[in-house]
Amino acid sequence: MSEDSVVNTKFRMLELLSELDEVEIDTIEQWISSLAYRKDLERKKSLQRSEKILINIGNSIKKIVPFEAEMPTEIIAPPTVGDQADCNKTNTCHVDEFLFDEMEVEKLVKKGKLKRHYCTDCNSRNIEDLIYISHSMSRQALQYIFKVLLPSDLEEKQILDIGSRLGAVLYGAYHFSTAGTIVGIEMNKECCDVQQRIIDQFSMDSNRIKVVHSDVMERSDLVANSDIIIINVLDFFMNNEKHKEMWHFFKKHIKKGTYLVCNRSMSDTLDNLDMFEELMDWLSICKPNQLENEIFFDMEDCNELFLYTVN
Ligand SMILES: C[S@@+](CC[C@H](N)C(=O)[O-])C[C@H]1O[C@@H](n2cnc3c(N)ncnc32)[C@H](O)[C@@H]1O
Repeated sequence: MSEDSVVNTKFRMLELLSELDEVEIDTIEQWISSLAYRKDLERKKSLQRSEKILINIGNSIKKIVPFEAEMPTEIIAPPTVGDQADCNKTNTCHVDEFLFDEMEVEKLVKKGKLKRHYCTDCNSRNIEDLIYISHSMSRQALQYIFKVLLPSDLEEKQILDIGSRLGAVLYGAYHFSTAGTIVGIEMNKECCDVQQRIIDQFSMDSNRIKVVHSDVMERSDLVANSDIIIINVLDFFMNNEKHKEMWHFFKKHIKKGTYLVCNRSMSDTLDNLDMFEELMDWLSICKPNQLENEIFFDMEDCNELFLYTVN
């Protein structure tokens, strides 16, 4: 590290410390002087190494899917209820967060390959922000799920990702957790082919990670046998009737004690579907199991991830 970067690091540290009170400064001082931060630094570097593998996987997927990562055979339509009901073809574009993180999006915008705005009134400055929708979870969200929300001892457990799409959750579970069995279920055949290709290309252990091509509602056995179920919002992929039917199906088949991880609160999801009263006693919200790892995350990026257990 050059002298300049040491000066710059000190500058940044002083900026941060200037926002703290005396008690908080004492805690940080203790963390540094006891050298406890060294262990945390090692763990952070190890997380960064695992993240590099996911970056490589993402780069391979980019070569085999369209830029918007939506398959020709898919029917994807904005929902009619909830916080994304304002999305439409004019104001929304799909930018897959697993494939493109914030920095890459910024580069694509600079190159003109992605736009941030749309014009509501041609030739005027009357523009609006485009809504970016991702159908995959980001690397950051995946690390948070497996390193903070869920327990660390998952060797005997089965994880099921409902609607596994490009496989982001499966690869995250493979590299950030100890889960014994990782299963993705996906109704779109092209998406299943992408996942299988990546599993083979990166020589993942096929006894540990698998993809099942099916509508989840035809595989109650898989749902009932899983200990952890991950559901990224499904609104763009089904109408409200099917969505309601699916939650009834989950209530019937997910076993007691199963962890459910969602990227929208269940009260919002059920409220939007007018099912809150009916299902509110089915789940309990849980505290993260690995709180000691929160220091590795920008919590503002992770406050949309929720952990529940089935009562
Ligand atoms: C929002 S994406 C989730 C992607 C992935 N789980 C992630 O978080 O990165 C939802 C996926 O669910 C799939 N899907 C929707 N309904 C399904 C069903 N009934 N059975 C299986 N897959 C379904 C869709 O094809 C889509 O690929």
